[in-house]
Amino acid sequence: MTVKEIFDTMDYGPAPESAGDALAWIVDQGSRFGMYINGDWTAARGEFHSRNPANGETLADLTQAIPSEIDDAVAAARAAQPGWAGLGGHGRARYLYAIARLLQKHSRLFAVLETLDNGKPIRESRDIDIPLAQRHFYYHAGMAQLMAAELPGREAHGVCGQIIPWNFPLLMLAWKIAPALAAGNTVVLKPAEYTSLTALLFADICTQAGLPRGVVNIVTGDGEVGEALVSHPGIDKVAFTGSTPVGRAIRTATAGSGKALTLELGGKSPYIVFEDADIDSAIEGLVDAIWFNQGQVCCAGSRLIVQEGIAETFHSRLRARMDKLRMGNPLDKCIDVGAIVDPVQLQTISKMVDSNTSGEIYRANVELPSEGCFYPPTLITGLHPSDALMQDEIFGPVLVGTTFRTPEEAVQIANNTRYGLAATLWSENINVALDIAPKLAAGVVWINGTNMFDAAAGFGGVRESGFGREGGWEGMSAYTRPGGKADKLEEVIAFKGDAGPSDPLDRTAKLYVGGKQARPDGGYSRGVHGPEGALLGHVSLANRKDVRNAVEAAKGAASWGATTGHLRAQILYYIAENLSARADEFANRIEALTGRKDGAREVQAAISRLFTYGAWADKFDGQVHNVPIRAVALAMREPVGVIGALCDDAQPLLGLVSVIGPAMAMGNRTVMVASEAFPLAATDFYQILETSDVPGGVVNILTGSHGELAKTLADHMDVDAVWSFSSSDLSGAIERGAAANLKRTWVNNGRKRDWFGAEGEGRAFLDAATEVKNIWVPYGA
Ligand code: NAI
Repeated sequence: MTVKEIFDTMDYGPAPESAGDALAWIVDQGSRFGMYINGDWTAARGEFHSRNPANGETLADLTQAIPSEIDDAVAAARAAQPGWAGLGGHGRARYLYAIARLLQKHSRLFAVLETLDNGKPIRESRDIDIPLAQRHFYYHAGMAQLMAAELPGREAHGVCGQIIPWNFPLLMLAWKIAPALAAGNTVVLKPAEYTSLTALLFADICTQAGLPRGVVNIVTGDGEVGEALVSHPGIDKVAFTGSTPVGRAIRTATAGSGKALTLELGGKSPYIVFEDADIDSAIEGLVDAIWFNQGQVCCAGSRLIVQEGIAETFHSRLRARMDKLRMGNPLDKCIDVGAIVDPVQLQTISKMVDSNTSGEIYRANVELPSEGCFYPPTLITGLHPSDALMQDEIFGPVLVGTTFRTPEEAVQIANNTRYGLAATLWSENINVALDIAPKLAAGVVWINGTNMFDAAAGFGGVRESGFGREGGWEGMSAYTRPGGKADKLEEVIAFKGDAGPSDPLDRTAKLYVGGKQARPDGGYSRGVHGPEGALLGHVSLANRKDVRNAVEAAKGAASWGATTGHLRAQILYYIAENLSARADEFANRIEALTGRKDGAREVQAAISRLFTYGAWADKFDGQVHNVPIRAVALAMREPVGVIGALCDDAQPLLGLVSVIGPAMAMGNRTVMVASEAFPLAATDFYQILETSDVPGGVVNILTGSHGELAKTLADHMDVDAVWSFSSSDLSGAIERGAAANLKRTWVNNGRKRDWFGAEGEGRAFLDAATEVKNIWVPYGA
């Protein structure tokens, strides 16, 4: 070929990276791997293969962990944990730094091994996966160093069970292991069965770094091993990244066990292009959004939503760009699109696309390699928002799209999904971009860029994309819990009696729904008695229908989330003022209900608590992360939405106010279930709400059986979070019910909370009442 011919075609020559060193490393290990438990390798049994999806060749034989090996790994992690936490932040930081350095030193080996095992282009593993994995260890070395000062009173959970997928094997390992170790946990990690090799190489790095035995344990195998690990009684925290159905199964399996849980699940992330966008950049962005890692990315911009006026041009320019994508040997440095991870995954993608009958399909005019798992870059336009391919995660190089007319319609289409992981938007108009970003239901929003990640900016979703964040302070705190062990909660039982009403005009306290007093749907009530049996009044017994009405009212009050912190603070202070004016009456009521003599103290604590959240309403700000890309990430604290809460039974006023306060302050709406034993303080309290300018629906108060109402709240698809501080044992039932739409839960696991003291208020409540959205905005040069 002459130079002139090369110039004419502009064809790339092959530029393959050598697989030699990585293959030699595998051969050095005997091409068979056992597992890394307590710093040693178990015997290899060669029970399943790890294959190179680009050519189908077996790379190594791996071992499927059996239950006794999982026991051994968990026991090793348990034994190592006190010593690891006891090293202190600086001690742990030194090891994390050593691991980061070793990852850097062996980065080429990791990159090639990752590409061989997963099929992703070497350009991506070399320039994205491995550098980001290193960055996570550096960043979290710093977190370990700062933990004692910056997260006072927090400590490690203990032993973490971590399960990761196959799309970013080493990077997901880093996202899981770095923060866990930084906080003083030890771990048992299971890589995905298709891609275990870089995790096994990482085990070798742990040995090289001199990491104490048992701090990191790697077990291999399929979903059965994962299932056994998450259900193991020796695990204190489970962290999972993978598909939504498995996330849901893990939520169910761990319900009521007291294990902490974070889930990073699937997505169907919108990619919105406004007509004033820089079209070339937006098209180039799509190459990163949907063809990066063959579209096998949880936050892939897989739903293209283009403004109608530019749709035709945009689609035709996009098709032209697709034809220029280079597909083939992933080890070739000039390749854009590599192999799909496994034939099973390839089949899933083909099946999903083949079953679609709507829209217009375009397959990139690229040559598919003759062997291996390859799927051509594909674009399907003209779909309806409700079409299956617009709703279901394909997890392949397939972009589906529709058009919109107005910004409002763009938001509507973008949010028409059960997921909420990420969103991308392109517009040269800063007003449009910054108006739309807060309206998108997503944990991450990228403006004029896409698929940008950094350890400093938390990553994670809302809705069925899971809960919890990885990266940033949020991610770090998810690997910690409050120090000390709380006492067991004692059940508070309602007093009984057979005395008649002391007042012939006795009335039944109604429910409080949508800012109005409401009769219970079932028409049932019960007498509330004092400790000596005196009848103090009657209280309504709410049922499922009442919960539905209350949730409906709360949903309708969504504009509360858009009010200013200043306004919310004013209203909270006003509630406190009105409660103060009736302090004696409430104190007497509490004493009559509970038989205690400290009613006045509880009322004063409730007033103070309302002041606390009035204070926080305009001060619990987000952060700006200086990410090492030409952008800043605005970590905005958004309200969670509708929170259902079962209140503390023993302190009927303070328990109620301690939840209403933070929820309202952060812009949420609540469905409160009052103390079951002593409900009349809550029904008196709604009279205070009625006179304090609280908009209807922001706070709804129900009375009745905690057990019954908790289940309905946990099952309800329009409730975003359920908190339980009830003295009944409801944690398991709530967490099981919450699996349906993966709502957030905060339950007491049968442990006591001192509502009068420091643990009755503060950051934990504010954190639970907010969700962090990271909005990446171009910034600087
Ligand atoms: P998966 O969710 O089944 O696998 C992820 C990890 O979970 C693997 O390590 C697997 O061994 C483990 N696992 C499987 N069943 C388990 C169980 N019952 N308990 C505990 N661990 C379990 O994902 P899979 O089957 O590999 O891919 C299927 C689909 O999931 C993909 O087509 C894609 O749509 C989605 N997916 C999403 C990911 C994301 O990052 N959001 C990552 C991987 C897959």
